[in-house]
Amino acid sequence: MKAERDNERLRVLLRRRTIERRIRQMAREMTADFRGERLHLIGVLKGASIFLSDLIREIRLEVSLDFIAVASYGQSTRSSGQVRLTKDLDNSIEGLHTILVEDILDTGLTIAYLQRVLLQRNPRSLRVATLLSKTAPRVKEIRPDYVGFEIPNEFVVGYGLDFAERYRNLRDICVLQLRGGRER
Ligand code: IMP
Ligand code: MG
Repeated sequence: MKAERDNERLRVLLRRRTIERRIRQMAREMTADFRGERLHLIGVLKGASIFLSDLIREIRLEVSLDFIAVASYGQSTRSSGQVRLTKDLDNSIEGLHTILVEDILDTGLTIAYLQRVLLQRNPRSLRVATLLSKTAPRVKEIRPDYVGFEIPNEFVVGYGLDFAERYRNLRDICVLQLRGGRER
């Protein structure tokens, strides 16, 4: 079965090799930044799960991981502007060097919300890593510590990112074009 439906088109934005190479560099940076320390990664479900699983295997430190889940987008390609926690961490992060690992930074609402929630739990440090960062104006100003790629303000899918839960399995990151409508 092909991935696209009839009214949808995919245009490759970032190829798998390019993504792979950049993630290796990001992991090297993290390894250098936390040399001699233990590191705890927190992945934001579900989108960041694929990024996190590739990233963690390139980090040369003692590293643990946990997941947190939020809901914000629903079935649409636009943010609802509301964020709520749908799955909490399994373990305490008190005293740990933590990195929040997100797939994409758009309005900033999700990361701003998660930073607030996580900082209340007294980690030793909290950094933010995002694979993608849209150039769109933010609702909340966020300065991520690690950014994979700056991308234009278009709706993208693949490598964990979905449109109504589809396309997460694509190896490349693609712009989703809806035929008959404008590209989003
Ligand atoms: P923000 O809260 O607006 O920064 O959006 C972050 C969340 O929105 C991400 O975790 C994604 O789940 C989702 N999102 C934002 N832009 C896109 C996109 O282009 N494709 C797929 N999901 C997106
Ligand atoms: Mg998401």
